[in-house]
Order: sequence, then C-alpha cells, then structure tokens
Amino acid sequence: MKTVKRINELQTLLGEFRAAGKTIGLVPTMGALHEGHASLVDRSVAENDVTVVSIFLNPTQFNDKSDLERYPRTLEADCALLEKHGTTIAFAPSVEEVYPEPDTRVFSYPPTDSVMEGAMRPGHFNGVCQIVSKLFAYVEPDNAYFGEKDYQQIAVIRRMVDDLGMGVNIVPCPVIREENGLARSSRNTLLTKDEHDIAPNIYRIMKESKELYPAHPVDVVHDYVVEKINAVDGLEVQYFSIVDGDTLADVHSWDEAESVVGCITVYCGATPIRLIDHIRYK
Ligand code: PAF
Repeated sequence: MKTVKRINELQTLLGEFRAAGKTIGLVPTMGALHEGHASLVDRSVAENDVTVVSIFLNPTQFNDKSDLERYPRTLEADCALLEKHGTTIAFAPSVEEVYPEPDTRVFSYPPTDSVMEGAMRPGHFNGVCQIVSKLFAYVEPDNAYFGEKDYQQIAVIRRMVDDLGMGVNIVPCPVIREENGLARSSRNTLLTKDEHDIAPNIYRIMKESKELYPAHPVDVVHDYVVEKINAVDGLEVQYFSIVDGDTLADVHSWDEAESVVGCITVYCGATPIRLIDHIRYK
C-alpha cells in the first residue's frame, strides 16, 4: 500500500493505473476506521483493480466546531487496517492541500439535503458535497463506496452525481452492526460504558416497530419509536422521520412511496453523543 499526501502524486499514480486499463474504486472516509469501513474496502477490493481510500477529516462539513475537535484521530491504526484489507493507495492530504482557498461553492438538493440532518446541521451536506466532488475530481473513480449507515448522505450524493453528470457509480453498502445491534460508527468510541450499554435500544426498538408495519398507520409507528426510545433513561430522540427512501420527503401513508425508510437521530448520554440509524419498512 502506498500512502500519499499530495494530490499531484495521487494523480500521477492513478494515471499509470488508468493507462494500464485498471478500474478504480474509491472509499471516502474521515478516518477513525472500524469494521464498517473495512467492509467498504473489502467490497471495493473485490470489485476493482485499484482501491483508493481517502482519510480526510473534512472541516467544511462540521457546523459544530467542538464536534470536529473531539472527532477521533487514529491515522496510524487506520493505515494498518487499510493495508491489511488490500488497499492500493491511502490518500491522507492536509487541509491546506484540499482547501488552499476557502471553498465557496454552494450545492443545494432539496429535499434530500434540507430535511433531517440537513435541518439539524445547516451547511453539513454542502460541506459533504464540497469534499466528495473534490475527491471524485482527483480520483475519477469508476465506483465509489458509501455506508448506508449515513442513509441521507447517499441520497444527497446521488443527487449531486446526477446533477453534475459525474459518471461515478455510487455503491451503497449495508450497515455493519455490533452483536448487540448498535450501528458501527467512529463516534461509538466516544461513548462511556453505560452509554454503550443503552445505545443498542435504538435499533432494537426500531426493529420492533417493523412488526407494526403495515397494519398500523405511519404516525402510530412513528410515535411508538419515539415514545419507547425516550422512555430509556439516557436516550432522547432528536428526530425520527418516516420518509420516501429516494427523495427523503415525509410520507403519511405506506403506499405513498415505493420504498419507505425511518431515519433517526438520538442523543445518548450526558455529553451527549448523537447516534444516527435507520430502518427500511419497505
Ligand atoms: O461519511 C463520511 O465519513 C464523510 O461524510 C465523507 C463521505 C468521507 C466525506 O467527508
């Protein structure tokens, strides 16, 4: 595995691979890698000749600077994991390399980027589009791999790719969960033992709610999830939205959309840590 910090070095290497007819997979990450990321890398390695993994803690997608400050940074362990999983190139640029000038581009894809995380974290998806569009321009991947854990992020990126005719195949990959059902996330390392013990209730209750589908109306399923999770000491639902799985617009009846997904964000513990998850009803 090669570790590269400069864009021109990355592009020289990739130019050689492309000239030799190799396919390129990209796995964008912000580091603090875990089994969820490893599954994206494995998929890319299986489906492409060359796998590039970017490790870049992108400041423009953090509207809360304290969230950025406490985000775990584990570059050495990240590189060891990537090497073990067959990565060809780890791309770990500095902030100055990626943003020599402030990025003033504005991306807007409502409702995908204006609801849920978009409403709670203004500017977040704009920052995600800024960095992902730059990474796509540097790497020109055939395939790009994203975890479905950030369900909304994939919907926004798909819109951007369609809008700008980027010609990158977006590959959504299933959520990787701990044995207790908690979705793997870099933020889980910030949970205390007690918080880690209560967090799995989120997915457990969402799974229970699937048993109410389709016999009960959308609002009953919604209220079931919110009330049950809020009844757990230490958990507080920030939002739970039952939405069209493609546009992310709210649905009010099950037959309003072809695919229907429940997306949730829950505050866990005293700090608190925001935990994101989702469940597909149909
Ligand atoms: O999902 C993430 O880790 C980030 O949002 C991404 C896609 C790497 C962009 O910084």
